[in-house]
Amino acid sequence: MQTNPYQFAPHMSQRLVTGGLHQSLRPMLVMAIFLLLATLALLPHAARASEPANGDDAAAAQIAGQVCSNCHGPAGVSVSPLFPRLAGQQEQYLAAQIRAFKAKTRSDPEAHNYMWGMATLVSEPMIDALAHYYASQAPAPGISGNAARIEIGKHLFEQGIPERGVVACANCHGAGAEGRAIFPRLAGQHAAYLVRQLEVIQRQLRSSPIMHGIIKDLKPDEMKAVAEYLQAQ
Ligand code: HEC
Ligand code: HEC
Repeated sequence: MQTNPYQFAPHMSQRLVTGGLHQSLRPMLVMAIFLLLATLALLPHAARASEPANGDDAAAAQIAGQVCSNCHGPAGVSVSPLFPRLAGQQEQYLAAQIRAFKAKTRSDPEAHNYMWGMATLVSEPMIDALAHYYASQAPAPGISGNAARIEIGKHLFEQGIPERGVVACANCHGAGAEGRAIFPRLAGQHAAYLVRQLEVIQRQLRSSPIMHGIIKDLKPDEMKAVAEYLQAQ
């Protein structure tokens, strides 16, 4: 057993990517990162008393760099599709999601296993500071994919499927999938993560009334196509 969680934690996302991480080790690693966040969250911040906003920004950058980056990558650009990219995501959306993990209205297995514990340790002002930090990072460029599927996905994103009542995604997520306020940026996000979210929203494991109504009848190949298009943006 490692005694210093911080020494051990940085290897985690890499190990998960390669799939070399044994199932039974995973809870231990999540716990190690969780303990690190607990330590950081309890550290006194000298700057806070005199300059609350700057103090929170500095503390947010520290927590992001030492804790969140183990899974979400440096500056929010993750490598493994298990972990969503946060760089350049909409600030209001990010804050709402951390609160959703805290309130457990995102209750799919990955939310439960990875984010519930993290979210309980993040204070209300720190939620906003972390959202501000990640929204300010430059989004990563897209990842190319299968051209034929991307073409189908583009059509779905821009036009929807009128005959089945599927509204065009671009109406809310923006023409370039850049998002706005509570509507998440989808451009450049990992396709596997996007498909998983469409599935959990469809199964109502993630409470999202607006999205559920729109995608409740979307088929697996349609999800895959639209996700691959978005990942490539
Ligand atoms: C141990 C790995 C791990 C760590 C550490 C971690 N996360 Fe996450 N995070 C995840 C996973 C996995 C998901 C996807 C959850 C799902 O599928 O519902 C996620 C999802 C999120 C989302 C939702 C993104 C979206 O597009 O909806 C936000 C926001 C987030 N994390 C913020 C943070 C912040 C801030 C920290 C640091 C305090 C952090 N995470 C630390 C694993 C982690
Ligand atoms: C009427 C507005 C609206 C339309 C149209 C819409 N969405 Fe959304 N979408 C949202 C909102 C709001 C959220 C945030 C949900 C939440 O808070 O959990 C969201 C979330 C998502 C997410 C989760 C992103 C993440 O980072 O976890 C995906 C994926 C998504 N939408 C894909 C789509 C696709 C594909 C379409 C078109 C078939 C679409 N959306 C159409 C409003 C919309």
